[in-house]
Amino acid sequence: MDMELEAYLRPPEMPMVPYPPKVITLATSGKMIVRQVDRDAVPILLEAIKPTFEVARDYYDIVGVRLYAELLGWYRYRVRDEFCLVGQIDGLLVGIVNTRCYSPELGMSLHTLAIERGLRIGAHLFAAKMEYSFEYLRQEEVLITAESPIGFRRWMIEYGLEKRDGQHELGGATPYALTRELYFRNKSRLVAGERPVPLELMQVAEREIIVASEEDILEKILGVKRREI
Ligand SMILES: CC(C)(COP(=O)(O)OP(=O)(O)OC[C@H]1O[C@@H](n2cnc3c(N)ncnc32)[C@H](O)[C@@H]1OP(=O)(O)O)[C@@H](O)C(=O)NCCC(=O)NCCS
Repeated sequence: MDMELEAYLRPPEMPMVPYPPKVITLATSGKMIVRQVDRDAVPILLEAIKPTFEVARDYYDIVGVRLYAELLGWYRYRVRDEFCLVGQIDGLLVGIVNTRCYSPELGMSLHTLAIERGLRIGAHLFAAKMEYSFEYLRQEEVLITAESPIGFRRWMIEYGLEKRDGQHELGGATPYALTRELYFRNKSRLVAGERPVPLELMQVAEREIIVASEEDILEKILGVKRREI
């Protein structure tokens, strides 16, 4: 690789304090570890996202392809100041969230993808990325948009987000703001989890990000067998 030219192509990066992992007990009493991953994890995450490309239901296809492009862009050093958190149950990947820092003060929420449905895994992971933006990166505001009605219900309605003028980075959609004040007002209701994560749970999560088979991912997203799609 021509590193001299590459230096021009790569966007600058700002340092980010790490997100401390946490464990969330789900309604099924399963334990979901929420943790930050670095670039090395991207190829395995891309494997998990691929099956969603075919799923138009609940807008998994558009969210999947966009998330795939954002993570690949980060992996190949073509996206500025992005972070990614994952949810894992017994090592199994159940959800992914990412955000790009537009500036030290402003977060641009990108995507939330729940690979397992019905447990508010997406809602918990979205809350975790807001926790990272406000409590660790100490941002003032995060701009959010929704590509699906479920997303709109989960973010705009559940958090009471403030509609803003202008365009969100995602396709120029209407941006909605989560301010620091609004985050802390919603925190006790929406942000869950405990720290520190017990060592044995953390070791399982870090040993391997397990990706379910394509069949299993589709079944977990759609709640039906693939042949019935
Ligand atoms: C939006 C999203 C992250 C929310 O995840 P979540 O909080 O874990 O919630 P679920 O998707 O499991 O459930 C949403 C609703 O659908 C219902 N549902 C559960 N399983 C379902 C299934 N197999 N198929 C369809 N709906 C299902 C749930 O009961 C829930 O109802 P509720 O809102 O009354 O609680 C997730 O739906 C998702 O990844 N969607 C596709 C990508 C997307 O839209 N991302 C957000 C972009 S703004």
